[in-house]
Amino acid sequence: MEPLKHIDNEGGVLELLTESLKHEWAVSLEYIIHAYSMPKGKYLYSDPVVAAVLDMRAQTIQIGIDEMYHALQMGLVVRQMGAFPTFQTDEVIRFPRIMDNLARNQRTEDMVIALYQKSKIREGAFPKVQNMFWNISYDEVRHSRQFQAMVETLKRSGQAEAICLQPDPQAEGKEEVSLLQVITRLENELMHRYLYYVLLFNEHQDLNWRLFKNSIDHMRHWDKNSGLLIKLGSLVQMENAERRPDGSERSLKPMPDIYPGTDRLSALQTLFPAEEQLIARYENIIRLFPEGEVKEQLKFHLMQNREHLFTQEWLLKNARQVKGLV
Ligand SMILES: [Fe+2]
Ligand SMILES: [Fe+2]
Ligand SMILES: [Fe+2]
Repeated sequence: MEPLKHIDNEGGVLELLTESLKHEWAVSLEYIIHAYSMPKGKYLYSDPVVAAVLDMRAQTIQIGIDEMYHALQMGLVVRQMGAFPTFQTDEVIRFPRIMDNLARNQRTEDMVIALYQKSKIREGAFPKVQNMFWNISYDEVRHSRQFQAMVETLKRSGQAEAICLQPDPQAEGKEEVSLLQVITRLENELMHRYLYYVLLFNEHQDLNWRLFKNSIDHMRHWDKNSGLLIKLGSLVQMENAERRPDGSERSLKPMPDIYPGTDRLSALQTLFPAEEQLIARYENIIRLFPEGEVKEQLKFHLMQNREHLFTQEWLLKNARQVKGLV
């Protein structure tokens, strides 16, 4: 990911945006996977930007959400230039030690700060894009300082060797746990699929915001399910990951990079069956849990998905009955 030196046409800007998007999609997932590999509330640090003691896990999730917004901003610019945003990603890695994950995050931030600040767009050629990259780069500066403070705190407090949460093989053999892994992967796919359509139809503000709301719901479900997996003795999985001898897991394809549908109708048509299938899986898994916190949380996701199903059915019907809508 070397800075691009001579950007003076749209092709060059798109190349920079595509490289940047691969990074942003990767870290938006990677940071949240790192966060859900740590216990809640155990590792605290003093944050140099907000001047408060924060939970490393909670702050890593917040930073992951910032990255998703960066990806969206960039994807919108790609669409405004008439191109299609990539959903391919850079490599995502989970190391066995918590500190190695946080140190990797800091290195990634420093690398991307260089990409955004040192890539040279010809002065006056694309001022808004240039300004966006400067603005995003300072979010990355903040992230770098925050990760650095986390790493230093772990070292200073003798917790450099602390390892990630370890899944319990017995728990992982249970039907409800493997079903929840499948559901969590589907939630991730749907979250990104909705984002793809948000970008595709960004000029239609009504559709755009409705799809964005559903995407955010799926992101929350993914996030909550990751926490539930820990409660059940498991751990959120990385898609297509390979385990190395050093114990790290690495994936070059942590999320699908192709989504169905190219125009409004073909895109909307895919969402109804996708929501229906997800709902059926929630209905199945909910039966396996006794009354309690986990069941209640899953029921809440089920209700929201039923709401999505209703909305999607009508978005499709309404799109079909309006003449001249493309
Ligand atoms: Fe970012
Ligand atoms: Fe960042
Ligand atoms: Fe849904």
